[in-house]
Amino acid sequence: MRAYVSFLVLPFLFLLAGCGDLVSQDPDQRGEIAPILTSEEAFDDQTFAKPQEARVTHVDLDLAMDFDAKTISGTATLDILAADEASEVILDSNGLRVSAVTDQTGDALEFALGETVEGKGEPLTIELPAQELERSADLAEGELAPTHRIMVEYVSAPQAEALQWLSPEQTAGSEHPFLFSQGQAINNRTWIPTQDSPGIRQTWEATISAPEPLNVVMSGVLQGDPEAEDENRRDFRFVMNNAVPPYLIAIAAGNIEFRELGPRSGVWAEPEVIEAAAQEVGDTEEMIDAGIALFGDYRWGRYDMIVLPPAFPYGGMENPVMTFLTPTFIAGDRSNNGLVAHELAHSWSGNLTTYSSWRDGWLNEGVTSYFENRIVEAVYGKARAEQEYALSYAGLVGGIEDAGADNPVTAMRSPNSISPFDTRGFAIYDKGTVFLRTVENIIGREKFDAWLTEWFDAHAFEPVTSEMFLADLREKLIAGDAELENQLMLDEWVYGTGLPENAWKPDAQAFAEVDGAVSAYANESTIPDTDAWRNWTAAEQRRFLEELPQELSAEQLASLDATLGLSQTNNNEVLFLWLEAALRNEYGPAVPQAERFLARVGRNKFVSPLFTALNETNWGKPIAQRIYAETRSSYHAYTRGNVDETLQYDAAA
Ligand code: BES
Ligand code: ZN
Repeated sequence: MRAYVSFLVLPFLFLLAGCGDLVSQDPDQRGEIAPILTSEEAFDDQTFAKPQEARVTHVDLDLAMDFDAKTISGTATLDILAADEASEVILDSNGLRVSAVTDQTGDALEFALGETVEGKGEPLTIELPAQELERSADLAEGELAPTHRIMVEYVSAPQAEALQWLSPEQTAGSEHPFLFSQGQAINNRTWIPTQDSPGIRQTWEATISAPEPLNVVMSGVLQGDPEAEDENRRDFRFVMNNAVPPYLIAIAAGNIEFRELGPRSGVWAEPEVIEAAAQEVGDTEEMIDAGIALFGDYRWGRYDMIVLPPAFPYGGMENPVMTFLTPTFIAGDRSNNGLVAHELAHSWSGNLTTYSSWRDGWLNEGVTSYFENRIVEAVYGKARAEQEYALSYAGLVGGIEDAGADNPVTAMRSPNSISPFDTRGFAIYDKGTVFLRTVENIIGREKFDAWLTEWFDAHAFEPVTSEMFLADLREKLIAGDAELENQLMLDEWVYGTGLPENAWKPDAQAFAEVDGAVSAYANESTIPDTDAWRNWTAAEQRRFLEELPQELSAEQLASLDATLGLSQTNNNEVLFLWLEAALRNEYGPAVPQAERFLARVGRNKFVSPLFTALNETNWGKPIAQRIYAETRSSYHAYTRGNVDETLQYDAAA
């Protein structure tokens, strides 16, 4: 696949290319080996690795994609830092077929795949080479350096959960296949044999072979132009010199093209989508500037995005230097761009400072949602930010009402008594936002911003925990002030369930007009007039639909649709709320549109609730089963898993 390029010739290649985007792959340019945390709270129970004995510090992938077999195969060369007494290293695997493991000289090493644990995969235990790596003379006293190097030869399984192989029909162009990965949370072990834990950071590089004419992107910096391997395949080379948690290693391949947005940013998409995609994300440079002004340097060089086909199961994924996005956020008016602000914000919260355990979900997602809202305020203004905050707050209050205020799933730091993946989205995202907004208002924006900036800087490229966050806040901002400590209610927010009483409420004026319209509809069946509705922001339209009475008759739904043009909206968030209300109320005329939507879109946030709405009535149950039998195979494993559970779908039957 790849001709071996010695590090000695690299400076020469660098000069030849002479291109600012090229990042040297010289190991000297590589970021430092990140610390691992050993406190009880930092413990990740989802990995088989024992990082205190032996841990991976660098991953070098040399892989080929096979779209017919739906496999990725090749080698992963791993640098390991092992304790003196360690004799083996344990990696995470889930369904990998490992054919050989060797040391640096090609001599075989013993390895064993352990028993599979449902959801977690199996440990891959490898004997460490007898020969240690030489310690470079330039290393400072006490500076960490890898001690061993091993090479794993393997192939991923066709059903690998991290990888979704799309048929040409699932793309906009309908001509070429498409592949994307989704590593978070613990899926990357289905295609990369490494230690798959957010607290074990690794630098990485990769050479990827893909069939013509597909382009490959990764969450690393592309090195020069792809090289022809033969007349049918090309090699793409990527480097990530910042140590990242391995769930952030991501790949996508398809018939995609690039459009520059500004000096630091650009967007990839299929040719059929690129124009609309570039239009929609046109505020990205401004958002990056806003992020830097708020919370410090952007440390990743470029910020590019890829707009994927609609089968992508999430809204977005913060893969470094290459955010992955659903195309369903495109509305033509940038009204769903909180998504871009969110994934960009992860460049600080999540990618720079990362939770060490999945139990601290809020540290990534809650801090990011707060940061997202601050970017939205800076770029789109206070009114829009306040409306989005009010939607978030309402989601939190509703979520807690449904789950019960003493339910452990409503805690931000998920307790050991439940799976870290059972904590609810609203408890991580919305409660996290409201928490930080509350702290900001009590402490004062200026002081709070300075503290958060320092937090990101002090822990850049390192794992963190809730305990560290709170301890730092107490040390730097509370400094023994007992009254302030009482006012903040920090522990209640992070460890408690339900909604603490000091929660910062959204401005009641944010939705004053819409809330009036909601009451008018509930009390007098007055539908807002068509022009008023059209002039409402997307957030206002969402607010109205979210606050409508749960039960609506067919006549009511028909006149709402006729007056407001709900089924004709360009905004998928609005369309989704309309379809959900219609299906929940057994509204037959909406079924064909729902069916088309569910056949095209795989985003779990839309797909799962629509099947749930159908499944809740005897009218809808058979419709759900009929549609799902058609659409199931087009969904990502994540979406499929959720809907299987809702519909109690028996895949074997
Ligand atoms: N990192 C998440 C997506 C994720 C979380 C994947 C946990 C797997 C496990 C991403 O940044 C995210 O939060 N996406 C949201 C965006 C929204 C909050 C703007 C989504 O996909 O809906
Ligand atoms: Zn996020």
